[in-house]
Amino acid sequence: MVQEKYIHTKDWWRESAQGIPQIITELPGPESSRMHTSTERYMKGLSSQVKLFPVCFSEGHGITLTDVDGNRYLDFSSGIYVTSLGHCHPKISEAISYWAKRLMNCHDFSTPVKEKLMEKMAAILPKGLNAIQLYSDGTTAVEAALRAARAIKNKHEFLAFYRDFHGKTMGAVSAAQMYRGDVQSYGPTRAPGFYMIPKPDPYRPLFKNAKGEIDTDAYINFYEEFLLEGTVGNVGCIVLEPAQGWAGSIFPPDDFVPKLRKWCDKHDFLLFADEVLAGMGRTGEWMTMSHWNTIPDIITFGKSFGNGFPVTAMVVKEEYGDALNKISASSSYGGNPMACAAALASIEVIEAESILENVRTVGKYFMKRMEKLVEDHPIVGHVKGKGFLLGIELVKDKNTKEPFVEAGKKVYQKAFAKGLAWIPAGHILRMSPPLIMDERYAAMGLDIIEQSISEVEKEYGYN
Ligand SMILES: Cc1ncc(COP(=O)(O)O)c(C=O)c1O
Repeated sequence: MVQEKYIHTKDWWRESAQGIPQIITELPGPESSRMHTSTERYMKGLSSQVKLFPVCFSEGHGITLTDVDGNRYLDFSSGIYVTSLGHCHPKISEAISYWAKRLMNCHDFSTPVKEKLMEKMAAILPKGLNAIQLYSDGTTAVEAALRAARAIKNKHEFLAFYRDFHGKTMGAVSAAQMYRGDVQSYGPTRAPGFYMIPKPDPYRPLFKNAKGEIDTDAYINFYEEFLLEGTVGNVGCIVLEPAQGWAGSIFPPDDFVPKLRKWCDKHDFLLFADEVLAGMGRTGEWMTMSHWNTIPDIITFGKSFGNGFPVTAMVVKEEYGDALNKISASSSYGGNPMACAAALASIEVIEAESILENVRTVGKYFMKRMEKLVEDHPIVGHVKGKGFLLGIELVKDKNTKEPFVEAGKKVYQKAFAKGLAWIPAGHILRMSPPLIMDERYAAMGLDIIEQSISEVEKEYGYN
């Protein structure tokens, strides 16, 4: 039971974290197994994370998750990059329940809490990036951004980047990598007017200079050529996931985004930054784009924005605000009072609890420890990330860089069985710990991961 004295202090989550991880049954436990089997009878299309480790959760508090058998886990996933300020942050839960008892929905009429949220967002975002729409999931905010871009520029073509992810509706899917399985099962899904171009991945560069270093100018030159060869000259917007989450916590080289901004300005293209996953503190900034002092024309926020309550935002530059009238921007749930309360309280917590500073400091600690993994482990090819958006890339051979997908699955399962609730399912071990985490728990999670990597290396005969 969490004691009253911890509520509303920065340390509200510490008591419930005591003694984690605490595994008291074999995993998955008997009640998890029963519940998963019974749910799965009806619930289809589960993610690989669940399929690989089918436990069922009943409680979350701060950095701690408890399953239905009473096993307690250290959380390294924040839901799925969502509960970034910890599960059930008291201030945020209280703010949601206040409005749950007073006014749950009044379409897009204003409310006292919406007024405050609008002012707060305008205050934390760069000057002039303040024409806002609220939605209830990331994909819908992305769709709104795509429609807004068309309305602003009156152009219908988009360029988007290899391995970026934007959600699962038709527009969002069209601006992302196609899932091979889906393509086989229901045919090509990319909508007309969407084209994919490569983005520099520092570990796997496509274009290199004479010295063998990644060459960001060559990427821009390729885009220039692609405009002529691959489009009908009607491009209005470049769709960018500035820090790739789904693809494995991949950040482009530091000179890339400023060069891309310059290129967009040269052609009068809008730059749309999809920060549904990385925005609102996960990389140590409100906007990931701030790492490169670059302001997008359109930006989307989600996930951390409401710390678990479904609320997302699409923001365009003030000068484009009128275009939002053209896209019939309201939705049934977007900006309901509970949603606004969750988003407002989340931003206030980030400010009051110095969360950005914590992410920067503990993020450096994470990276330092992760870099040591590359030195010490034959299957750790590369580590990457900023703040609390982190990845460890597993390879069969450091020279060939062949992805080691089977090892990724095994490390995921082994670490989960030791009490680490986390995300990966491919060859990049993705980490998204709650932003309130300190070095002690960061070390605890990394120790579990390292031990699991060592066990897998042994199984595959590496020394
Ligand atoms: C960058 C990005 N954009 C959009 C989405 C879609 O958000 P949602 O799942 O809330 O619809 C995601 C989801 O992971 C995402 O990572």
